[in-house]
Amino acid sequence: MADDRADFAGRVGAQLRIETTDAAAIAALAGEHLDLVRAPFTLPRSRILVFREGDGVRVHTSEYERSLAECRVLDTLIVRDRGGAAQPITRVLPHVIEFGGVVDLTFAGPGALTLGLRAGAEAAAIIEWTTPDGALTRIELHGENTAVRIDIGADRGVRHAASDSHLADLAATEAIWLDWFSRCPRVRRDLQAMTAFCWWVLGANIVELPTLGRARAVVPSKIGYVGLWQWDAYFIAVGLRHGDPDLAREQLELAFRFPSPDGQLPDVVHELGVLATSDDLPPGDRENLRRAGSAIADPSAPVPLTKPPLAAWALAKVLEVEPADDWAREQLATIRRSQDWWFAESDLDGDGMPEYGHPYSSGLDDSPIFDGPLPTTAPDLGAYVVLQDLELARFAERFGDADAAAHRARAERTLGLLLDLWDDERGLFRARAAGTDVASDTVVGLMPLLTGHLPERIVDRLVAALADERRFGAAWAVPTVALDDPDFSPERMWRGPVWVNTNALVVAGLRASGRAGLALDLAERTVALVMHGGGPHEYFNPITGEKAATATTAFGWSAALFVDLAVGLSGAARS
Ligand code: GLC
Repeated sequence: MADDRADFAGRVGAQLRIETTDAAAIAALAGEHLDLVRAPFTLPRSRILVFREGDGVRVHTSEYERSLAECRVLDTLIVRDRGGAAQPITRVLPHVIEFGGVVDLTFAGPGALTLGLRAGAEAAAIIEWTTPDGALTRIELHGENTAVRIDIGADRGVRHAASDSHLADLAATEAIWLDWFSRCPRVRRDLQAMTAFCWWVLGANIVELPTLGRARAVVPSKIGYVGLWQWDAYFIAVGLRHGDPDLAREQLELAFRFPSPDGQLPDVVHELGVLATSDDLPPGDRENLRRAGSAIADPSAPVPLTKPPLAAWALAKVLEVEPADDWAREQLATIRRSQDWWFAESDLDGDGMPEYGHPYSSGLDDSPIFDGPLPTTAPDLGAYVVLQDLELARFAERFGDADAAAHRARAERTLGLLLDLWDDERGLFRARAAGTDVASDTVVGLMPLLTGHLPERIVDRLVAALADERRFGAAWAVPTVALDDPDFSPERMWRGPVWVNTNALVVAGLRASGRAGLALDLAERTVALVMHGGGPHEYFNPITGEKAATATTAFGWSAALFVDLAVGLSGAARS
């Protein structure tokens, strides 16, 4: 029996190794980051997360707007030898956790874990786990009984049974990950290990949304954000395009699949539907807003919720690596309507330039520009709609299916209104809260660089602000709030910490504004930050370059944009 199994594993292993030596090496590089604390053990399409707990592990499910504490499945799972001594975790690879060289834990498909004696191991072992109701289960593996399979239902229910397919499951799990890593972009030597980990993050964050069949959503984080957030999907697609353009297109398609009748794209597509207005806010979220004394917790009428209009920008990037014209035309129809929605339904003061009706629609939820009353006129939104109209004009010229001149004319008009927000004295683009100037000096004021059409004089001033050690020239740039702003905090979300997406947008803005050297420099500093901080976290302290305490880890767009910047810096990017 043992020989048969070893033979089966050997055959499957040899087959895989012939094609995937390289992928195996990249998987091993990624494995070095799988500490089971910041990066849990998981599988593409699976909702199961395995974290380190004492000598063993604990298991959770990953669910939309539910905390890990609410999603407990196994509070402890320990592997013991025959004498009862706990076997430590000796190695973690993307497809396996090894306990003391005796037992392997792997997946048996997306809905189950399996633990089995290692091939050839004569030893026996005891597997012991507790469920949140306190019940203890103890299984002995020896003789004919070499593995146990633990099925975990969507309702977090647990069932177990003896298994004789453990080695086949191990091989199948390894094959899934090797296939994934075979697509990992090859980059500059010093960036390869972090690129491998970031590529793991993107694969690890794949879930199925039950209402959408077999579609694969790469979520921002299986730990904290389980759904497809509109602008996260754009950034994630921009990273994925380098290794898996199909999956990149799938993200955009899901993001564009549920526009409202008037063209608005939803903030989030999730397993229960969409989050498109304040009426759809999950109770926990609304409660947090109430506790913070926020006026937006209970608006008198539903407020639309969306994310910034960077859809055409993302589409253009995804098409750069692989043209898909028919598909692109279909998506463009939706993007055009969403762009029109901003002007028709979200120009809340009727001056011709759209406003944010809710902080969530900006993606920079907690930025001090939203401390005052709504709606908020914001230079980032002005810049994004100009950029999107320019992209739409280019697409109209390419496909001959829309009025390019109309898009350019609107871009020009909006640019004029955007320039009205320039404060020459302070050298910044200001936001306005319900018509009143906001004093805050934040990263949104750098986004007009993206238009590529600012007067040189203004570009010079923004470049100077980026270098200024009192403003954005932090040890680890670019802080989301200027260092000398009274609202600056190095740790609070969107009130100081560095985010990889805003950095990537500033990189793109510098390039669009003819400052390619500075763009390159910021790209280098951004990948250096992620490596210094130990991974693609959600946001980073701009003073220390470490993960901010409240930031989540293994974060989708940080991983994707690290990959995108790394490919660019390695000379292989097409843009
Ligand atoms: C936070 C961010 C927002 C992002 C979402 C999902 O709410 O502020 O920009 O889209 O998380 O990652």
